[in-house]
Amino acid sequence: MEKSQYSGPVCEFETAGPCGIVIFGASGDLTSRKLIPALFELYVRRRIPDNFFIAGVARSALDTETFREVVENAVDRGVRNIKPGQKQGFIKRCYYLSGQYDDDSTYRELKDLTGTLAGKYETGGNIIFNIATPPNLYKVIVSKLGTNSLVEKGQNKDPFQRIIVEKPFGTDLETAQDLNSFFLEHLSEDQIYRIDHYLGKDTVQNILAFRFANLIFENVWNRNYIDHVQITVSEKLGVGHRAGYFDQAGLVRDMLQNHMLQLLSLVAMEAPAKFDAELIRDEKVKVMRAIRPFTGVSYPSTILRGQYKEGEVEGEKISAYRKEQGVKKNSSTETYFAAKLFIDNSRWEGVPFYLRAGKALKEKKTQISVIFKEVPHSMFVDDIKENPLEPNVLTFGIQPQQGVFLKYQAKVPGSKMCIYPLQMNFNYADYYGVELSDDYETLLLDCMVGDQTLFWSKKGIEKSWALITPLLQEWEKSNYDNKKVKLFFYKAGSTGPREADRMIENDNRKWILS
Ligand code: BG6
Repeated sequence: MEKSQYSGPVCEFETAGPCGIVIFGASGDLTSRKLIPALFELYVRRRIPDNFFIAGVARSALDTETFREVVENAVDRGVRNIKPGQKQGFIKRCYYLSGQYDDDSTYRELKDLTGTLAGKYETGGNIIFNIATPPNLYKVIVSKLGTNSLVEKGQNKDPFQRIIVEKPFGTDLETAQDLNSFFLEHLSEDQIYRIDHYLGKDTVQNILAFRFANLIFENVWNRNYIDHVQITVSEKLGVGHRAGYFDQAGLVRDMLQNHMLQLLSLVAMEAPAKFDAELIRDEKVKVMRAIRPFTGVSYPSTILRGQYKEGEVEGEKISAYRKEQGVKKNSSTETYFAAKLFIDNSRWEGVPFYLRAGKALKEKKTQISVIFKEVPHSMFVDDIKENPLEPNVLTFGIQPQQGVFLKYQAKVPGSKMCIYPLQMNFNYADYYGVELSDDYETLLLDCMVGDQTLFWSKKGIEKSWALITPLLQEWEKSNYDNKKVKLFFYKAGSTGPREADRMIENDNRKWILS
């Protein structure tokens, strides 16, 4: 890590008060990979106090002792630079309850356990239930928590009882609405924290700071100066062990409905009157409302679906999606999509937003590029015939490059007036000399302190589903007819189907991946 160039004030993290966390799905992959390492980091960095415990619940026949081994392994695997003696205080605060999710006795035992632990660790009864199970269990867990009086509906409750729920939240508009009504029977909206881990990334939150805490860009942030916007989420991994879920879902549900619409909203939203969870979430909903509906879209010039064939990513063989374990032989599930969206409001009228995402591609990269218009008249026209002026491009690197990069024209040293683009780079790690905190750390801490800014609201999640559901229904109705909604195949390890390049090239533009 580079030495920090930053000389401003230390940005103090918030510190949570006493509370217990119950994790449903405690023996699962998400708990080991994300939740435990994040909670450990928060604990050792004193973002959460000693008045804290974790109660894991799952069907697996573990006990507290064996669960603590799972926790220790998860910490060893997921956390770097653990200092001697740091693990024990954390591990001894972890407990386990094995039980069926639909069995009242599990919840009665859980009530006893959390009651005892609340007394032991003096958490004041504050509690978070983190539902990290497959989505088909969300309803039964929430309902049993309600009927067994582990949660009680109420606004601003003290002690607090909150629920964190993972994605996917629904599979279309109807199921999302149904899930929302169901949750809201047992909880009030301020008790529900719907996760989108992209919002926990500093680089994503920086979009708001960049746009609304600086004057220079906000004034040109509109259709008069911006030619188009590109959002790319390129992943190297195929679907691997998640094939069972993924084959039902597809990439539009997996990435567009949530992470990518969130990114787009942050780029396109208006500034609310103040930095307030409700106001920010409302502004994002307004963007989603203004996105031109996906009805009667043309394929593949506006929406394109793709699927990976056998190939190699960085020398490693990847089998065709249809050959992955758990995938139907003739599956027409998309592992890639590209789309051209328009936002029908006065700021963005006529500005295309090109979005693309794919699995098993050449690179892992998430970025947003804002491509400005060309200068209206160039006085250099006689001097630079060979290299015409290129437009400015502002790129938000979300990952793995984390920062903001601005491409602009500069004079090349020499006696002649030679002009060539260069890039001004701000890299988080170089500048601040620290690793950015993990998205789950941010989100778990926010839930503990009761800040919902980085979570989906009911309106937001329903609006995003309302937008993409007609598209999904059209595909289903056509029975994924390959003539109408063609599936373009691409080689694993490539940059995606050639037709995705054509989509943007037909508009005299090209994809940027800096
Ligand atoms: C998840 C999707 O929400 O996000 C995965 O379900 C995807 O399919 C992942 O791989 C990408 O997250 P990140 O942070 O690695 O870009």
